[in-house]
Amino acid sequence: MEPALFEYYAGGSADNLTLRDNRTAFERLRLNPRVLVDVSAVDPSVEVLGHRESMPVMVAPTAMARLAHPDGELAIARAAARAGVTQVLSSLSTYSIEEVAGAGANTWFQLYVFKDRAISEHLVRRVEAAGYRALVLTVDLPVPGLRENLTRSGFDPSDLTMSNFTEVMKGHQEGGFFTYIHDNFDGSLTWDDVEWLHSITDLPMVVKGVLRADDAVRAVEAGVAGVLVSNHGGRQLDTAIAGIDALPAIAAAVDGRAAVFVDGGIRRGTDVVKALALGARAVLVGRPLLWGLAVGGESGAADVLAMLRAEVENAMALCGVPSVTDLPPDLVT
Ligand SMILES: Cc1cc2nc3c(=O)[nH]c(=O)nc-3n(C[C@H](O)[C@H](O)[C@H](O)COP(=O)(O)O)c2cc1C
Repeated sequence: MEPALFEYYAGGSADNLTLRDNRTAFERLRLNPRVLVDVSAVDPSVEVLGHRESMPVMVAPTAMARLAHPDGELAIARAAARAGVTQVLSSLSTYSIEEVAGAGANTWFQLYVFKDRAISEHLVRRVEAAGYRALVLTVDLPVPGLRENLTRSGFDPSDLTMSNFTEVMKGHQEGGFFTYIHDNFDGSLTWDDVEWLHSITDLPMVVKGVLRADDAVRAVEAGVAGVLVSNHGGRQLDTAIAGIDALPAIAAAVDGRAAVFVDGGIRRGTDVVKALALGARAVLVGRPLLWGLAVGGESGAADVLAMLRAEVENAMALCGVPSVTDLPPDLVT
């Protein structure tokens, strides 16, 4: 990968403290395994919003996958379909909602709300028509984080086509799409807008980017089907708490009224098991899929998911946990 591109994918915001903490938070946690449990057959599958995932690992939405490989989000969708896991497609994808739907994965759509609500409403209609199963509303980006690394590296994606916005972009070409979205993210978004979204669609909604228990409770009260505990891969508020550290209080506050998910720094099967033991229904993984995609397109992305599956099964067996319903809450110390 070109260095500027690698920086865009790998980097966080400001001093990268949250980015690093997303890993160290997992590294600090210890597992307390059970022994002499029959683990000759381990089943990592899990039910998520009415869909059977073959394992509790889903693909996080990441913008502009075509930067990593010409097949971009299509390759990720095909890899997700092969692995039997859900892909969450970013609003800022480089293949369109309709193109990715044709790749055969179970797909959710990540929504950014722009100042012009008609743009978001139109996206929702396309997502419904294309058969997506849920909307993931990202709420931790009222303004972009301090992406100083991009200024230093000179990252400039203005040649890329944002395939979901080709209509919108006609007449807004100056400065490219990046400038357009930078100026048009709606910083005035509130819980009322979650209600507005509910009023325009029957799709189940997941709120992405929650780190506080009181916000998670608000989300449940607003009728969401899921809460995704996330700090946006360390790319938004630097020094924000790691998702895995925020998870236990949020899972307790939600108390089974919605599905709880977590992302950020999940790299190993043991990370997945830790997240589940601390109250997550499933986890989402971002950058590893982009690395796999960059190395080998669809088969690279599929390899990453296959490695994670093998590691999850290994960790479950060594923890004495034959199925995800057998996870003891005190597995993590
Ligand atoms: C290159 C990149 C682009 C991203 N683009 C989006 C996006 O368009 N929408 C969104 O909600 N989150 C986006 N995220 C955040 C991811 O969905 C996810 O929260 C994060 O990557 C998880 O952390 P991990 O990369 O350590 O697994 C992006 C992350 C990366 C690394």
